[in-house]
Amino acid sequence: MKKFTSVDDIQDLERLISLAKKIKAAPFANQQKGGNKTLGLLFFNPSLRTRLSTQKAALNLGMNAIVMNLNTEGWVLEFEEGVVMDGNSAEHIKEAAQVVSQYCDIIAVRSFPALTDKEKDEEEYVINAFLKYASVPVISLEGSTEHPLQAVADALTIEEYKTTKRPKVVLTWAPHPKALPHAVPNSFVKIMKKADVDFVITHPEGYSLNHHFTAGVTITHNQDEAFANADFIYAKNWSSYDDYGKIVSKDPSWTVTPKKMALTNNAKFMHCLPVRRNMIVSDAVLDSEASIVIPQANNRTFAAQAILTKLLDNE
Ligand code: CP
Repeated sequence: MKKFTSVDDIQDLERLISLAKKIKAAPFANQQKGGNKTLGLLFFNPSLRTRLSTQKAALNLGMNAIVMNLNTEGWVLEFEEGVVMDGNSAEHIKEAAQVVSQYCDIIAVRSFPALTDKEKDEEEYVINAFLKYASVPVISLEGSTEHPLQAVADALTIEEYKTTKRPKVVLTWAPHPKALPHAVPNSFVKIMKKADVDFVITHPEGYSLNHHFTAGVTITHNQDEAFANADFIYAKNWSSYDDYGKIVSKDPSWTVTPKKMALTNNAKFMHCLPVRRNMIVSDAVLDSEASIVIPQANNRTFAAQAILTKLLDNE
């Protein structure tokens, strides 16, 4: 593996999940692998899980991890080519990416979309600029359109908790007070399409995801119908894709409640976190035995460690 910026970079999901499980069973077994290597984590946006779990994964492999909050601590970067830099930007990504490549053996970047210009967001111009100008492998810690490390942790969690060979997995939209990106659902859809699961997406009208991701997936606007016999409920909010970046509904009837969970086959409840209690999911579900959001977050470390292992091995 030479980069990890999309679920598409996974050649063989079964082998990757098997590696993550092996790592989870013995996280310190390869402490020499990352010796004298440095992971640079660059954040344009906030994080709790991604920042800590990816650092922990690096430390488990014997790597050094250095973190920079570029939005608050770094120079404002310019991503346009050939511009006169007479505005706010102090440094071009051309120099910045090459400089960081001299300090780090792997560069990991988080950059959320602005959700105002669909075309610009879909260019993934920040992650792609690092891919273009860095001379070392690049990992996405969540870009404009994908959050692939989250997706690997999600697939690992489903593999661990499934009780049937081919579980029914439902991705449901749920209400939220703010406009959120599409990266988590997009990557979850991509990885579920690679997994051996019966996959259904449910959302209100006006919340279709990009067809590029959802092509071939069963989609329904009837949440109750989707929940019937489900083994996993994965809740997530996203803003409208068609009316780009807008909130077109906050319908509370889409909140995941015990009544909704009762329609399922004793399903496990999943969410990538952070989660808005009693908006996305009621306390009664989140605090119940059905909720596996904490072990799901724990798996972020082993997912990241599996990806770092593959990049260090250049496998
Ligand atoms: N799920 C996730 O990426 O969490 P953070 O935003 O806290 O990193």
